[in-house]
Amino acid sequence: MGFLCFLQVLLFLSICSSRLQKLSAQSPTNASSSSLDALLQDYSFRAFVRPRTGILYDGTVPSNLSGIKVAAMRLRSGSFRKRGVTSFKEFSIPSGVIVKPYVTRLVLVYQNLANYSHLYYPLPGYDYVAPVLGLLAYDAKNLSAINLPELDLRVSKDSIRIDFSDLERIPQGSSAKCVRFDSQGLATISESIQPGNTCETEQQGHFSVVVKSVASAPSPAPPESEKRKKKSSDSRTWIIVGSVVGGLILLGLLLFLVLRCRNYKKQEKLREMEKAGETGEALRMTQVGETRAPTATTTRTQPMLETEYAA
Ligand SMILES: *[C@@H]1O[C@H](CO)[C@@H](O)[C@H](O)[C@H]1NC(C)=O
Ligand SMILES: *[C@@H]1O[C@H](CO)[C@@H](O)[C@H](O)[C@H]1NC(C)=O
Ligand SMILES: *[C@@H]1O[C@H](CO)[C@@H](O)[C@H](O)[C@H]1NC(C)=O
Ligand SMILES: *[C@@H]1O[C@H](CO)[C@@H](O)[C@H](O)[C@H]1NC(C)=O
Repeated sequence: MGFLCFLQVLLFLSICSSRLQKLSAQSPTNASSSSLDALLQDYSFRAFVRPRTGILYDGTVPSNLSGIKVAAMRLRSGSFRKRGVTSFKEFSIPSGVIVKPYVTRLVLVYQNLANYSHLYYPLPGYDYVAPVLGLLAYDAKNLSAINLPELDLRVSKDSIRIDFSDLERIPQGSSAKCVRFDSQGLATISESIQPGNTCETEQQGHFSVVVKSVASAPSPAPPESEKRKKKSSDSRTWIIVGSVVGGLILLGLLLFLVLRCRNYKKQEKLREMEKAGETGEALRMTQVGETRAPTATTTRTQPMLETEYAA
């Protein structure tokens, strides 16, 4: 019986430790979108081998990011401003886009984050119905440079359009919205997507289409930036509260188990004592009428059957 107790305690301890492991696995991952940008800048620039201006070159990404697509195009600033790039993958860049700071040549980098979208751009309360697409610009002076700062693009006439005609199925009753992430990863969500499933932007950045999550319809939303901060501190508080409460419950259970174990031991001792008594002073079975009944060796009154009285 003691061994069984020991096993039970062991089982509990293992359950505790597995729960703790789960908690630490749920802590936020550190998938930084800006470090991804830097890595993808490097890999998209590698697509340039004697590049011609105005031609889009598809790059390759490291195997640990397979699924992500990158491409790059080198352009003279003057012609970029005068003509734009009508077809840059899903992007359509009009004339009149101003690049700051001024560079003679620039590289436009395209990213399609595919199934990595929600990892690098998590958006609580929303589901992606399109991949996150990136449009970024860099100085083209040194094509082997790494960790380049982004250039600032700003439209002066028409907006840059993004074609999201290949959306995933939108749940009934949901409406698709455009989302833009700035270089800090802050999201701005539009009222709704434009006709023809396009989004518009006046700047570079990362873009996608989202719908409100059906599972977790959030209550009236505070501004996006605030919401993000609040969410993360909220979840941290909950993790702390959860661990404390969980710990207390587990402690209680452990205590209960220990007490039970001690009880078992006591009962065991009692039973052993009883057993010892039984063997030391075995009760003799005596025939009483037609039934056998236990009798002590020196019995005060001999058991009798009622019929004997009657007789
Ligand atoms: C996340 O990454 C940044 C930079 O890569 C680092 O400074 C920070 O300490 C990391 N945070 C965690 C929680 O690992
Ligand atoms: C992927 O691999 C590249 C090159 O091997 C490395 O520089 C990068 O840090 C890795 N990125 C991630 C997210 O694992
Ligand atoms: C994304 O999909 C590719 C295959 O297209 C796969 O190799 C990769 O592991 C997936 N990555 C994630 C984070 O789901
Ligand atoms: C270009 O950048 C690479 C990597 O940072 C550096 O080694 C090289 O000297 C640079 N070339 C020029 C011409 O600045």
